[in-house]
Amino acid sequence: MDPNEILSQLTLEEKVKLVVGVGLPGLFGNPHSKVVGVAGETHTISRLNIPSIRLADGPAGLRINPVRENDPHTYHATAFPIASMLASTWNREIVEEVGRAMGEEVREYGVDILLAPAMNIHRNPLCGRNFEYYSEDPVLSGEMAAAFVRGVQSQGVGACLKHFAANNQETNRFTVDTIVSERALREIYLKGFEIAVKKSRPWTVMSAYNKLNGKYCSQNEWLLKKVLKKEWKFEGFVMTDWYAGDDPVAQLKSGNDMIMPGKVYQVNPQRKDEMEEILQGIREGKLSEEELDECVRNILNVLVKCPSFKNYSYSNRPNLEAHAKIAYEAGAEGLVLLKNVRALPLNENDRIAIFGTGQIETVKGGTGSGDTHPRYTVSILEGFRERTLRIDEELAKTYEDYVNTMRQKEEYKPRLDQWGTQIKPKLPEDFLSEEEIEKLAERNDVAIVVISRISGEGYDRKPVKGDYYLSDDELRLVRLVSKIFHRRGKRVIALLNVGGPIEVASWRDEVDAMMLVWQAGQETGRIVADAIAGRINPSGKLPTTFPMDYSDVPSWSFPGEPRQDPKRVVYEEDIYVGYRYYDTFGVEPAYEFGFGLSYTKFDYSDLSVSVENDTLKVSFTVKNIGERAGKEIAQIYVKAPKGKIDKPFQELKAFHKTKNLSPNEEERIVLEIPVRDLASFDGERWIVENGEYELRVGASSRDIRLKGQLFLKERIYEL
Ligand code: BGC
Repeated sequence: MDPNEILSQLTLEEKVKLVVGVGLPGLFGNPHSKVVGVAGETHTISRLNIPSIRLADGPAGLRINPVRENDPHTYHATAFPIASMLASTWNREIVEEVGRAMGEEVREYGVDILLAPAMNIHRNPLCGRNFEYYSEDPVLSGEMAAAFVRGVQSQGVGACLKHFAANNQETNRFTVDTIVSERALREIYLKGFEIAVKKSRPWTVMSAYNKLNGKYCSQNEWLLKKVLKKEWKFEGFVMTDWYAGDDPVAQLKSGNDMIMPGKVYQVNPQRKDEMEEILQGIREGKLSEEELDECVRNILNVLVKCPSFKNYSYSNRPNLEAHAKIAYEAGAEGLVLLKNVRALPLNENDRIAIFGTGQIETVKGGTGSGDTHPRYTVSILEGFRERTLRIDEELAKTYEDYVNTMRQKEEYKPRLDQWGTQIKPKLPEDFLSEEEIEKLAERNDVAIVVISRISGEGYDRKPVKGDYYLSDDELRLVRLVSKIFHRRGKRVIALLNVGGPIEVASWRDEVDAMMLVWQAGQETGRIVADAIAGRINPSGKLPTTFPMDYSDVPSWSFPGEPRQDPKRVVYEEDIYVGYRYYDTFGVEPAYEFGFGLSYTKFDYSDLSVSVENDTLKVSFTVKNIGERAGKEIAQIYVKAPKGKIDKPFQELKAFHKTKNLSPNEEERIVLEIPVRDLASFDGERWIVENGEYELRVGASSRDIRLKGQLFLKERIYEL
């Protein structure tokens, strides 16, 4: 049915119903959705056969309730690796495949719109939701998001880019005023969204909770109407984040088409019913019916594509087996090997002692709306057992008993947070005696120490021991294991089961190898075991810098002023986010953006660079010169000439992940970069300044293998 025709038949009240959700399903006395556990639902207009559509989170997998009352069937969804790990793959195909798999689960469980991808920039390593986001770099974020959206939407359901924009912290997320220059917005915080909007045409966008330069994002006409809809030509609808903003009329007027989840007064007694406020706004002439129509039209254009509108009869039986394989493959490509001094992969007969409670309580992902409810999560210990690696079972048993006993104690009992997620207080990690570790070192060849962290929605991480830094007990464990195993000439490997950077520089010398295994979803244990054993050759690279120390981080104003209860946060570092800062100001990171080792080595050669019309053509060869098959991620950075506008030392402009190259095999890589992508924003327009540009082809941002020059004449691009 034609959306305009539907629009013409709607009464004013029905239009208002369409722009406001029904209230949070299943809470505050609202009925559950038919699909229990979705985050939101729109109103049904039965008179015109307009069904409600259902919206559910989130970035690591579809979040719905896995069990329903009086129903023997289960509704588990696949837990995929967290978004930061997906970005570590730098592989558009695998991310698209993850999107496809998630899209199928969305459709087959009766949902219409997936509230993902989340794609805020990693401005500061402590943002509690960074795990849901891709990267500190907008090109990598935008490309990953675009691939994900293509995948999801290929299944006939919608994706949602969130949270638009500059939503880079959890502290006071509902109200904090983000003060940021237009240049930093356009070059860093909006850029990824721009790429994803233009390349993948998402059905929906979610405006963010925070204020942006004084106005709530959901009430920010410049952001929604001018930038998103007019300049980028976004054609779907914009929804608020849940209970965002404070003025429904201003939201609709500013280009925010849908207000979610509806019934804000249920959580904020000071507020009125949004629908009443909108009707009153219309009566008082604050909002015209044409403005309301515009929102309704945007919604209807999407609604008519939704499975619910098409009366799709979903099966409740998505292909979880196939999707588990995709979750595994994506995780396998996202592992980042940070250090390896003749330690990995293990030899077949190596006997392994695994330390750290994270081997049992392996963290599959973060908490909050980015959480998932899979059928199972394979812990690291289970993964090693299943893959029949030679682990020290006596030690494993000791850990199992320890965890069980400790979790009975009052202070370590798991508790439920506001999201119903089990939060487990951190257990002391240094309970083994020196003598016990001596015995373990005697009978094993290798020690593995697992360090785990969890974070989530609603709170930021802290630059303290036990979070950004190792706790004293973790450090004691690492040091003791290292001392004792090394004394006997045995290897020590650290596994980082974390959702974002932690401090590693002060203790990495204690270990021979370090692998960032992230929070890899339900298949974590299998992925880790296979990589340790050499069945997977790690091929991920860092989408975000691991700084030497938290004090090096440029976004020192995080999370705003006053510190305890920030009202505003000023992005004083401007465009110098992540490697743009470390490279420009000569600050050495622990592991730089784009870094990651492999079990093999790659050689780069034969760079050729040319400009044809408005496009740079860059080609070069990558060859596997090691002894194992592997994939390489080649990155292209551009260093722009000094001119009128200050510029970062270099910026990522393109990247390519090779196919799996056998030893001696090579791949000729040809990449095209529109000249426009080299432009900087001068406050009004995008400008490619006159001068010599250096193309830097690297295995990381600091491991540049090939360089080429080219001269460009000034070009100006109006908005
Ligand atoms: C989160 C969104 C999420 C929504 C619905 C909000 O609190 O910020 O990311 O999609 O809840 O669950």
